[in-house]
Amino acid sequence: MRRKLVVGNWKMNSSKAGNKALLEALIPGLQQETSDVVVCVPYPYFAQVQTIAQTSKIKWGAQNLCANKNTALTGAVSAAMLVDYGCSHVIIGHSERRLQLHETDDTAAARFTAAIDAGLTPIFCMGETKEERDAGSTEYIVGRQLDAILRRFGPETVAKCVLAYEPLWAVGTDVPATPDQAQEVHHYIRKRIARCDENVAENMRILYGGSLNPNNAAALFAMPDIDGGLVGRCSLNANDFIAICKAVDEG
Ligand code: PGA
Repeated sequence: MRRKLVVGNWKMNSSKAGNKALLEALIPGLQQETSDVVVCVPYPYFAQVQTIAQTSKIKWGAQNLCANKNTALTGAVSAAMLVDYGCSHVIIGHSERRLQLHETDDTAAARFTAAIDAGLTPIFCMGETKEERDAGSTEYIVGRQLDAILRRFGPETVAKCVLAYEPLWAVGTDVPATPDQAQEVHHYIRKRIARCDENVAENMRILYGGSLNPNNAAALFAMPDIDGGLVGRCSLNANDFIAICKAVDEG
């Protein structure tokens, strides 16, 4: 039985006052939840989030890291620094970084392994554009992105991460994948892992992300290969995020 997980991706949207209000609403609101909950926050707020959330069930993580170890590299943040602030998870290969900051399968793989080496759990994102879907290339694209870690590091290492299917046409658009569309790709991802290792595939948590909200979450989470969600905008509103976490508990 795979344990469900909901991850909030705050992106570049917070402030000290806003974080405090959000976490102080989430902590009591999520007390009864049995699934795992993680918030991925901007680097400057790790210490604040750690102070507020450390005795709660909410874990915290980062939205990226640098693959290098601590070294002369201006502006970079290492895996060791994330660990120093109690982070448990880190998002790797988010589509916004792949598209706007030109991250590639190779750089995502390097960040992935840096996270694993530091004992962090990567949340490894994959997804196709609308053009790629329309051209019938979804499986090819997602398969290639998955192989960047699966072929390189093997299923035993991939077992240490959480995967996220985030179709680019659904991220930030208010056009979520339908439950059937998402299930089809999640099933494909699991099948591809099963070709390498059936046990790893069976236990692999695969999150859906892209315009998740309290109205569509239950139907998506009811799908057999969807093990939770990666939530952007609705993770910034306590009521919405709590409602999504409750939907995953029931799914
Ligand atoms: P969204 O973002 O929920 O705002 O669509 C999801 C994500 O980018 O992780």
